[in-house]
Amino acid sequence: MKKRWWHNKTAYQIYPKSFKDSNGDGIGDLRGIIEKLDYLKDLGIGILWISPIYQSPFVDQGYDISDYYAIDPAFGTMEDMEELLAEAKNRDIAIVMDLVVNHCSDQHLWFQEALKDPFGPYGDYFYIREGKNGKPPCNWRSYFGGSVWEPLPGYDNLFYLHMFAKEQPDLNWENPKLRQEIYQMIRWWLEKGVSGFRLDAIINIKKDLRFTDFPPDREDGLCAGTTMLAYAEGVMDFLQEMKREAFAPCDAFTIGELFDFRPEEMERYIGSQGCFESIFDFAPHLLGASENGWYDRKQVTMDEFRDAVFESKAISQEIGMMANIIENHDEPRGVSRYLPEGAQTELGKKLLAGISLMTFGLPFLYQGQEIGMTNKEFHSIQEVDDISTLDEYQVARSHGLTEKEALKVISQMSRDNARTPMQWSREAHGGFTTGTPWLLVNENYLQIRVDEQQQREGSLLSFYKQLIALRTNPSYEEAIVYGRQEPLNQAWSSFTGFYRKGREKTLLILANTQETPRTLKLPTPIKHIILDNYGTTPTTEADVLKSADTITLKGYQFLIVEVE
Ligand code: GLC
Ligand code: CA
Repeated sequence: MKKRWWHNKTAYQIYPKSFKDSNGDGIGDLRGIIEKLDYLKDLGIGILWISPIYQSPFVDQGYDISDYYAIDPAFGTMEDMEELLAEAKNRDIAIVMDLVVNHCSDQHLWFQEALKDPFGPYGDYFYIREGKNGKPPCNWRSYFGGSVWEPLPGYDNLFYLHMFAKEQPDLNWENPKLRQEIYQMIRWWLEKGVSGFRLDAIINIKKDLRFTDFPPDREDGLCAGTTMLAYAEGVMDFLQEMKREAFAPCDAFTIGELFDFRPEEMERYIGSQGCFESIFDFAPHLLGASENGWYDRKQVTMDEFRDAVFESKAISQEIGMMANIIENHDEPRGVSRYLPEGAQTELGKKLLAGISLMTFGLPFLYQGQEIGMTNKEFHSIQEVDDISTLDEYQVARSHGLTEKEALKVISQMSRDNARTPMQWSREAHGGFTTGTPWLLVNENYLQIRVDEQQQREGSLLSFYKQLIALRTNPSYEEAIVYGRQEPLNQAWSSFTGFYRKGREKTLLILANTQETPRTLKLPTPIKHIILDNYGTTPTTEADVLKSADTITLKGYQFLIVEVE
């Protein structure tokens, strides 16, 4: 694997609306991020991905962009952005922006022009098609429910395509002029000092242009729009062109968000000639999903989590480095989702942190993960903002779930779980804002907050710092960043164990994912313990090591050890 500057970094995702509000309007902003750069530096963060801050009507929280060259006033000004770039640079933190180019907002000038003249040049920036006698051209369902086709206002029998909300019309990548507009915009931001991009929903940019019906997969007579992706050939041509024309000249870091891809394509995505530098590993997050919707999901165990991660490392680690996450702004909180109920404690959260950060790949934290923020309980659907949650709530209700049952589903899966304000302190609204927050803070902010963990020895926050620091610790860096990941006895249940085999050192990661202790005989003798989620008092070693190759792990104990 060719070495890259980002390999030994730890990345952190900011959801700007909920991170830190600097002016009391209840919305997080760029000055709030600037205020917290020292906090992030101290945590050990080297790359910051900031979810969209462009001008937007916020139908999908900024993922509907109406001007790619402007900062939304809710977040600040272009001067604030420039200051953020400069201040981040001073601290050796790279800024990665969100690149949302599968679609834009219906308020974007391009779409407004297309509305005026669907057959003119801007009409060709979108997918505008004739319907079948006033009905949509085909039966695809959008990600957020309902048809992907929306009647073009003011015209008979004309529809435009939107894979997401109807306010997010898809951009026609077949049009070379549109592609050039996008590349130009990317270069503009790179020249401003952005280090790279996270590529939103990027696999969707290529459509199956036949726009034909597929067999319905729900009672609504529609089929998931993603069905089409299996028939859409040629996305690589677009991605390689974008790399060549937009990213490569500035040596930009790129990380793709893609769910629907074929494992045999890994090389073409993140191999040495791949179109991205990295992609997120969503393997664990796809587990338990049902095509019927959230209400039909299955609970995921830690062993299933382990197996999914092992499998994707087996496919990818010889090829390139994926990014490991337990959560993001689209997913519930990892600690609420994956940890067994008895392990939803600081100890259990350290175990999950340890597994995630010691797995081969670029660790990507999501804001609040470092203090163990949890899912929120939603007491009424009025508390929910997220467009996709509102749809899933309706789907659940229409399948006979009571209001209470549907709210339970929502509380487990809603994207708003991750979007509640960051819990900084014991002040009102967790110190996120002096005003009224745009989304309610989690009720548990008095128990789970940054200021408390900053001054408490042995806190989750300090454990994260230790884990992150290991990645650049000269003794372990090579093994942790590049060492091959190999499972240790995957047949043991309620247990996650793997080696990281570096050129000189071999580390072993051990996690007892059950409440009861267990004694294990290891194939290789242990040299010493590097990190322990029970603490690092000198007695621990004697406590754990029965002999060099026999070890007793307490309930939910996590260890990093060096072996011979
Ligand atoms: C991505 C984003 C998500 C957004 C969608 C449409 O999946 O992560 O938040 O709703 O794309 O842009
Ligand atoms: Ca604000």
